[in-house]
Amino acid sequence: MDKIAMSTREKMVELFMGAPEGLISGEQLSSALGVSRTAIWKHIKLLEEDGFEFAATPRVGYRLTHVPDELMASLVAPHLRDCTLGSQILWAPERPSTNDTATELAKSGAPHGLVVTAARQTGGRGRQGRVWQSPAGGMWFSILVRRPCAISQAGDLTLLASVAVWRALASMGIPAEIKWPNDLLLNGRKICGILAQMRTDGESVEYAVIGIGMNANFTREQFPPDVREYATTILSEMNREVHRPTLLGCILTELDQLYRDLKAGVGGFAAVRDEWKAHAHTLGRNIRVRIGEQIVEGVAQDVDARGVLALRGEDGTVHAIHSGEVLFSEMEKL
Ligand code: BTN
Repeated sequence: MDKIAMSTREKMVELFMGAPEGLISGEQLSSALGVSRTAIWKHIKLLEEDGFEFAATPRVGYRLTHVPDELMASLVAPHLRDCTLGSQILWAPERPSTNDTATELAKSGAPHGLVVTAARQTGGRGRQGRVWQSPAGGMWFSILVRRPCAISQAGDLTLLASVAVWRALASMGIPAEIKWPNDLLLNGRKICGILAQMRTDGESVEYAVIGIGMNANFTREQFPPDVREYATTILSEMNREVHRPTLLGCILTELDQLYRDLKAGVGGFAAVRDEWKAHAHTLGRNIRVRIGEQIVEGVAQDVDARGVLALRGEDGTVHAIHSGEVLFSEMEKL
């Protein structure tokens, strides 16, 4: 499949970003985009609703005077370093779920490295069929990875993603911790979750859609009270906003490096296990893990080269937990 068409608004932003002093005439916009001058005016108004600011100069054109930090291709691209992920970034002000859009595009042949982003999600999905709150100010994006690995390595991908996110946050001065298997916490509360969906063809993964939700530039008070108990945001904990296109560029660059090592057989999760463990919030704590309907309690002892959690129960039995969810003990309802 060739490149997927960007929306008119995304193309408009690209044109403005490439124009000398951000100034373009209505006529230039209309002929470059193949739409009427009235349509251009409507798109300018819609972009203003999304935080872009323009100065209209009669008989000269529009000047882009303020660019919000949305996850658009033209804003993220300068932060990608030698990276195959993010070869195309499709932004929209609103989508039901970026994972759904990326999965639909994957089915119709979209290329490896496509990233689908949205300013807000109306039907954001978390693991275990949960709703994922996705207000404006967060980072909601899904990455399409084609032929990433053998089925046996599928779990490695999300573990690698959590390490990539940890590294990117650290590079921006945000001291997160990893909660097994792949949540990111700040001051003990969740700021980032990862939901991977894969299509397999028997032996290997045909493609994976790695959906990442980062509670960035909105406040914890915007969550419903039950979510607020165990989730927080970068803004609430750090008292500052983070530049979202820079953070996305860093995440993609780090993940690309880890993914390429995985493909080259450099070791999957085993290769970064020590790094994961060094930043783990879970290890050494008394925790409860939900595995389907069952809850297992004990001390998290270790994570092995395959990402399997060793949990020592009160009676000394060590449980090997391949997948499950660590509950925020006192905070999360069963
Ligand atoms: C979790 O439950 O921890 C996983 C949350 C994953 C949320 C992200 S936001 C972008 C992508 N689109 C979705 O609908 N979900 C993922």
